Amino acid sequence: MEQRKKKIENILIGITGGIAAYKSPELIRLLRKEKFNVKVILTKNAEHFVAPLTLAVLSENKVYTDLFSQNKEDEEISHISLAHWADLILVAPATANIIAKVAHGLADDLLTATILAFPGEIILAPAMNTVMFNNPIYQENSKRLIRMGFQIIDTEQGLLACGDYGDGRMASPETICTYIIQRLHHNQSLKDKKILITASATREPIDQIRFISNYSTGKMGFALAEVARNRGGSVTLITGPTYLKDISGVKMIRVNTAQEMREQVLKYFNHSDIFISAAAVSDFKPAQHFPGKIKKTSQQSIQLVLEKNIDILEEVGMKKNNQILIGFAAEVNSLEENALLKLKSKNLDYIIANDVSQKDSGFGADTNKVVIIDRTGNKLDLPLMTKHAVSEHIFDHLQKSFRKHHDRDMIE
Ligand SMILES: Cc1cc2nc3c(=O)[nH]c(=O)nc-3n(C[C@H](O)[C@H](O)[C@H](O)COP(=O)(O)O)c2cc1C
Repeated sequence: MEQRKKKIENILIGITGGIAAYKSPELIRLLRKEKFNVKVILTKNAEHFVAPLTLAVLSENKVYTDLFSQNKEDEEISHISLAHWADLILVAPATANIIAKVAHGLADDLLTATILAFPGEIILAPAMNTVMFNNPIYQENSKRLIRMGFQIIDTEQGLLACGDYGDGRMASPETICTYIIQRLHHNQSLKDKKILITASATREPIDQIRFISNYSTGKMGFALAEVARNRGGSVTLITGPTYLKDISGVKMIRVNTAQEMREQVLKYFNHSDIFISAAAVSDFKPAQHFPGKIKKTSQQSIQLVLEKNIDILEEVGMKKNNQILIGFAAEVNSLEENALLKLKSKNLDYIIANDVSQKDSGFGADTNKVVIIDRTGNKLDLPLMTKHAVSEHIFDHLQKSFRKHHDRDMIE
């Protein structure tokens, strides 16, 4: 099971005086969404770029700016108490100025004094104009910090706020958030692996305003995507309609129909290492798509003819090259027999059989009770657990499979 290196709960964010400070509120929002506690130190110059109130509201904490205005009630010295509170310090954006100061041990404001008083991991996300970035003084300072164990998140190339084009743009809030999450996880078994996942139900239109679908919410596919991202994977999630929000650090593609899902799957499948089909793609669709809205008539009933829908999993099973293919079999009876049949007929490597007739298992639930079955019929019968925990087990299983591939390659 995946575990964080050290329980990181409290992240102290330092915001310094660069244009990229406008991205800091979004970064705080993403970190709060990941359930981290966040406190903010704003340098005096950063106050020109972002309002303390915005940061206080989003971090749900007081914002700290001044080295000499310690809290009168508990008489704590801010830079020491903040250094004690933090499990990790992240400076984003980090100006050339703060990088120079930290590299030389200056402690003339709250942020630099706290950094000097902090013994743990410090991550810097630099942001500056290209000429500043390429300046040997900056380059030397950043190398010095890396040598001393600081983590520096790569800047990106692009159009900068000053109008120049080049290096020095701060990494996006999503990239920074993902960087932190991945660094905090021991298990990076999916590093350099491309994982394609489908989730949720598809909608098959009857007319312009009605459709047939099923109760799948996408929770299982979303949990898989999150765990794969945490393990260092490069994840693409193709999802049918769902109320679930985008996962930061995951490429999100939202579709409606099975046909749209198929197009997207085929677009990404060849470049994937693992494909997990967790979507409940409608098996049938209306044979005819009525234009406009079907009107209420004097007739008591209308006939709707359904035809078999495309089978995305079967299609990629035939195209399969070196990919590992995983399907889900949502069944209400003869669970394992039906699942095994599906595994064989669709040329899968694993099938995750889940009994959707159980109350706490299947569509819409936060938990699932599954059996993981491989091609040789070996099975792992898991107890009822969260969909997140099920995802961890699935990737643990895959890790073994990667190891086998690797051992075989070494022998050949
Ligand atoms: C409009 C404007 C934008 C700036 N953007 C940046 C920037 O992106 N990166 C940077 O290193 N400095 C930038 N600076 C310069 C810093 O604000 C300046 O070096 C300041 O001393 C940084 O203070 P601090 O590091 O204590 O926040 C900018 C200045 C101005 C006026």
